[in-house]
Amino acid sequence: MNFHPSLCLLTSLVLFCLAGEEFGDHIWEWVILCLPCLTILPPFPRCTVDNRVTRVAWLNRSTILYAGNDKWCLDPRVVLLTNTQTQYSIEIQNVDVYDEGPYTCSVQTDNHPKTSRVHLIVQVPPKIIEISSDVSINEGSNISLTCIATGRPEPAVTWRHISPKAVGFVSEDEYLEIMGITREQAGDYECSASNDVAAPVVRRVKVTVNYPPFISDAKGTGVPVGQKGTLQCGASAVPAAQFQWFKDDKKLVEDQKGMKVENRPFFSTLTFFNVSEHDYGNYTCVASNKLGHTNASIMLFEINEPTSSTLFQEEKTTAMTPWKGPGAVSEVNNGTSRRAGCIWLLPLLVLQLLLKF
Ligand SMILES: *[C@@H]1O[C@H](CO)[C@@H](O)[C@H](O)[C@H]1NC(C)=O
Ligand SMILES: *[C@@H]1O[C@H](CO)[C@@H](O)[C@H](O)[C@H]1NC(C)=O
Ligand SMILES: *[C@@H]1O[C@H](CO)[C@@H](O)[C@H](O)[C@H]1NC(C)=O
Ligand SMILES: *[C@@H]1O[C@H](CO)[C@@H](O)[C@H](O)[C@H]1NC(C)=O
Ligand SMILES: *[C@@H]1O[C@H](CO)[C@@H](O)[C@H](O)[C@H]1NC(C)=O
Ligand SMILES: *[C@@H]1O[C@H](CO)[C@@H](O)[C@H](O)[C@H]1NC(C)=O
Repeated sequence: MNFHPSLCLLTSLVLFCLAGEEFGDHIWEWVILCLPCLTILPPFPRCTVDNRVTRVAWLNRSTILYAGNDKWCLDPRVVLLTNTQTQYSIEIQNVDVYDEGPYTCSVQTDNHPKTSRVHLIVQVPPKIIEISSDVSINEGSNISLTCIATGRPEPAVTWRHISPKAVGFVSEDEYLEIMGITREQAGDYECSASNDVAAPVVRRVKVTVNYPPFISDAKGTGVPVGQKGTLQCGASAVPAAQFQWFKDDKKLVEDQKGMKVENRPFFSTLTFFNVSEHDYGNYTCVASNKLGHTNASIMLFEINEPTSSTLFQEEKTTAMTPWKGPGAVSEVNNGTSRRAGCIWLLPLLVLQLLLKF
């Protein structure tokens, strides 16, 4: 009695029972044909015609599937493929996990029963059958993501944080729990289910972490009368902040004469096309979203010496230019290569000194 584990994907399975000759004695061997992998597992058949065979049968556990040409089971997926003197094979179509188990080929020769057994192992590629949907939660909340996968063998499930920054594995099983989530933990999470049958399957879940606005950029600007002046207010927030500008306690309406407010998801600018005396002062930028609001004071102040300031700026730009030009770059390269040369030179000198002794 043989016990040969074999593997088969969910597809048709052909069970061959083949006649062979070994040391003069008649034996029957089995072979499994697995589609679409099309692997015929050893031992390979050596077919000879044998007249002594009187009865053949294929059994699933102790149930007879086929005896000779007679079908004993009701399962329509089981069909007889060949029944000759050398080969007796049946096919199981649409192999299912329930078909896993021992199959026996029974041969009666000259009243000597012989059996050959094959153990069928059904493999199933991994499949994610349940996964959490995208979530949007507030900073500090607890979240739990679930990813349920099926397959044979049972797939290994992992969670990874993949963007914006690839943090890597965050869980080695189907559940991912995050206590008191931070804004840095927002992004895409990927669930991967893998077994050795097929390529791992992956699914993504987007986690949005909401937090109130935080003003990161609010600097005052000095502008001379008659020039263009711009105040900028930058805020990070999820959802993106709404901006409002105030002067003292008065709200500025967009497109007020001589000025313009431009709002972007993460910043707002207030532009004065032609700054006059009464524009100078203390402005307040208010950033708000559904979780809260914050404000920052930004001064628009006067600069008295417009010409010297512009001159100074011009000087600065001309002074900067050579460093940005190709000449400066090659100078830096030369410097580094020289330094690298010194590092190489040092061990050579030491070596020379040592060789002298
Ligand atoms: C083999 O037997 C098992 C258990 O009775 C059954 O679930 C399965 O469908 C059978 N398979 C075939 C191909 O007869
Ligand atoms: C998060 O989980 C911890 C531990 O289970 C619990 O103490 C805390 O109250 C939870 N926080 C929220 C916001 O549910
Ligand atoms: C700016 O405003 C002043 C006073 O109203 C005016 O004289 C000047 O021409 C304006 N400059 C520009 C560039 O519009
Ligand atoms: C601008 O106004 C805010 C309040 O509106 C105040 O806290 C801040 O001190 C003021 N800044 C200056 C320079 O006056
Ligand atoms: C700015 O914030 C302060 C403190 O939270 C608040 O008292 C003030 O009213 C705010 N100003 C505006 C214009 O919202
Ligand atoms: C080093 O600088 C000289 C001029 O100072 C230049 O001719 C040469 O190409 C530079 N070499 C490198 C490697 O940049």
